[in-house]
Amino acid sequence: MIGCAPDKGRPFEEILAELDSFGVDDPNYKAAKTWSLVYYLNEEYTQFLEKAYAKYFSANGLNPTAFKSLKRLEKEVLRFTARLFHVDDEACGVMTSCGTESCMLAVKTYRDLGRSKGIKKPEMIIPETAHVAWDKGAEYFNVKIRRAPLAADYGVDVAAVEKMINKNTVMILGSAPEYPHGIIDPIEKLGALAKKHNIPLHVDSCVGGYILPFIEMAGNELPLWDFRVEGVTSISADIHKYGFAAKGASCILYRNVDYFKHQVFVNESWPGGVFASPAFLGTRPGGAYAAAWAAIQANGVEGYVSLAKRTIEVSQKMKQGIADIGCFEIIGNPVASLFAFRSTDSNVNIFAVGDVMEEKGWHIDRLQHPDALHAMVTAPHEKVVEQYLADLKDAVETVKAHPELADSGQAATYGMISHIPLRGMVRKQVLDMFANSYKLNATELDLSDSDAMAPGGGSEGDSGKKSIVDKIISWYVKKQSGK
Ligand SMILES: Cc1ncc(COP(=O)(O)O)c(C=O)c1O
Repeated sequence: MIGCAPDKGRPFEEILAELDSFGVDDPNYKAAKTWSLVYYLNEEYTQFLEKAYAKYFSANGLNPTAFKSLKRLEKEVLRFTARLFHVDDEACGVMTSCGTESCMLAVKTYRDLGRSKGIKKPEMIIPETAHVAWDKGAEYFNVKIRRAPLAADYGVDVAAVEKMINKNTVMILGSAPEYPHGIIDPIEKLGALAKKHNIPLHVDSCVGGYILPFIEMAGNELPLWDFRVEGVTSISADIHKYGFAAKGASCILYRNVDYFKHQVFVNESWPGGVFASPAFLGTRPGGAYAAAWAAIQANGVEGYVSLAKRTIEVSQKMKQGIADIGCFEIIGNPVASLFAFRSTDSNVNIFAVGDVMEEKGWHIDRLQHPDALHAMVTAPHEKVVEQYLADLKDAVETVKAHPELADSGQAATYGMISHIPLRGMVRKQVLDMFANSYKLNATELDLSDSDAMAPGGGSEGDSGKKSIVDKIISWYVKKQSGK
């Protein structure tokens, strides 16, 4: 035996059964108990996607001239996306592996476009609420981030964006919508600004790209956010989210090839041959493109419109139900399928409510600045909305009756962590502990002390049981008390 590899190979059935057993404690997305991470319709649809994926399981999109099938699938997915976003075949783009890859590629593209114009110290202006993938891109590609504040409606403050523009600005960003609160930034105003200053404008529609067009087709008025806005030069959209494709499929589209060519990597002198690559990945998974194409065929326009209608209905029911409880406020005025809510009652700690909901089997994300709970709604949530609202009401009563809940569990840790002023130290702690969790001898998250910077609670006995935030808190509390 070497590591997990047995000396002799095992029967397929036995292996598959063991794989099933590994997932027993995972979030229960099939029962619609998760409010992030998973876009799941039903078992029959999933099995269909698996079959589509399997047909191109071994095909490789690395060399676009080899698997013509994949090039065709990719192009058809992109053409459909271009039509949804109101741009013609002058547009140009690729399928990528995820939203993060699409966003990071845009950073690389606009940095290099800037370079071609002589900009040596590139900067990009992004809203406070832009997805963290943009920070990752900025860090990887050495582009300085300027985070623009929000206006009262939680969309980016366009006047503040204008003030941040300077000769080093290589791109501006708007989200449609942003992930934390589901707000669509004022793209038309950003477009006008981008045109006025001749700066590219990317719209991050990773989460919204495959639902906003269908919400509109269902007869709802939305602010313009796509290529109909003149200044928009590119859009990212993840078909593995509301397009209900298999994971590993996103798209980035540029208005024309003049932008896109700055994304392409070429090496003409490698001994392995002249090499050109349109995105980050070398080997590109054919299965993901086939499943994305198959998802489009299976849902059809009417299917997507119907999913969008159902999703909006569930979201509205939820938002109303949450507001009716009397101690919560929906943040901003989100018009699509994501939203966040915070507490308006000092006796109701929102993170404690989150803890009680988790105990009831819900998987919910916590937000900070302001402290809030999050919901990414899909059509199948319609079957659990009443239960969710009943549990939420119940959770409020529990939290009111037990104020101590605010000082324990994740409520304490999230509450504290979102208010700790020393962000640099938090960052270092998280970095150390996260990296440790990737040590090959780590079981789940290995929270044993990594170095002298992690003085909190490192005894043999409790390491490994606490969450990252728990550990940071005990470190912070000890630090505060001088121990
Ligand atoms: C607006 C936005 N951009 C980018 C991403 C990153 O997508 P991925 O998780 O597929 O990398 C997300 C993910 O939710 C998102 O909501």
